[in-house]
Amino acid sequence: MITLDKYYTQKNSPIALFDSGVGGLTVLNELKKILPNENFVYYGDTLHMPYGEKTKAQLLEYSDNIFKFFESKNCKCVVMACNTTSSVIYEDVKNKYNFKLYSIVHSVSEILSKLEIERLGIFATRATITSGAYQTKIAQYNKSINVFGQYCPQWVHIVEENAMNIPKNIEIIRNDLEKMLKNKPEKIVLGCTHYPFLLNVLEKFADKDIFIDPAKPFAQYIANDLKLNHLLNDRKTQQDEFYVSSNPENFKHSAKMFYELPNNPELLIFQN
Ligand code: DGL
Repeated sequence: MITLDKYYTQKNSPIALFDSGVGGLTVLNELKKILPNENFVYYGDTLHMPYGEKTKAQLLEYSDNIFKFFESKNCKCVVMACNTTSSVIYEDVKNKYNFKLYSIVHSVSEILSKLEIERLGIFATRATITSGAYQTKIAQYNKSINVFGQYCPQWVHIVEENAMNIPKNIEIIRNDLEKMLKNKPEKIVLGCTHYPFLLNVLEKFADKDIFIDPAKPFAQYIANDLKLNHLLNDRKTQQDEFYVSSNPENFKHSAKMFYELPNNPELLIFQN
């Protein structure tokens, strides 16, 4: 039996976030704007990227190591800054560890369901789209929106390689977008935390107001919940910590467009 006693008593403990790479920084960036007193610990599982091409068993194995690490860091909550793990394993792990877990898909679906539109497109990874998580969660709140998904298997690599301005990649992004636009969405959710890195390219080929980045409402949801539970930190006491499972220099370089890291992240590989 897991109790959340620890979670409810440690308002000065850090907030943990994880993703397969730099994508989760889009969420961290929003959190830091509205929660300047918090300490953060970030883990990018770059060795196993892309998560969107992994099985459920693999995602459970990788995240178990990451969650145990966060427990050892005494984190008060963990933010799944990754739509893929939110979609595929959140229900399996939400009560398993000694911290509260925030899932991006579960937190923003209610907000998305309030959109006054009939056609909503979701760009996400293969695993997120195949799971049907966004479609199912949004339909729980509002059945009148037609939610349709499209996966873009190359986009995460393009972001991790910081290669979105190469003509070949602009073409890939434009083709995927055109395919989506044929379905006449009124709004398009960037349902993978890596995808907001591509906004500069996407906005060349479609009206920028069509895109929704869930990072902002997700960060607001987390801030509201921490406040409600009297868990906001009084003052920042330590530097944010960053860890990756491969290639720290590449992470720092690719992060740059969205987030300026003071140093290379620390290399941390879990042995099973
Ligand atoms: N950024 C993650 C997501 O939101 C994972 C992308 C991947 O590694 O495939 O789904």
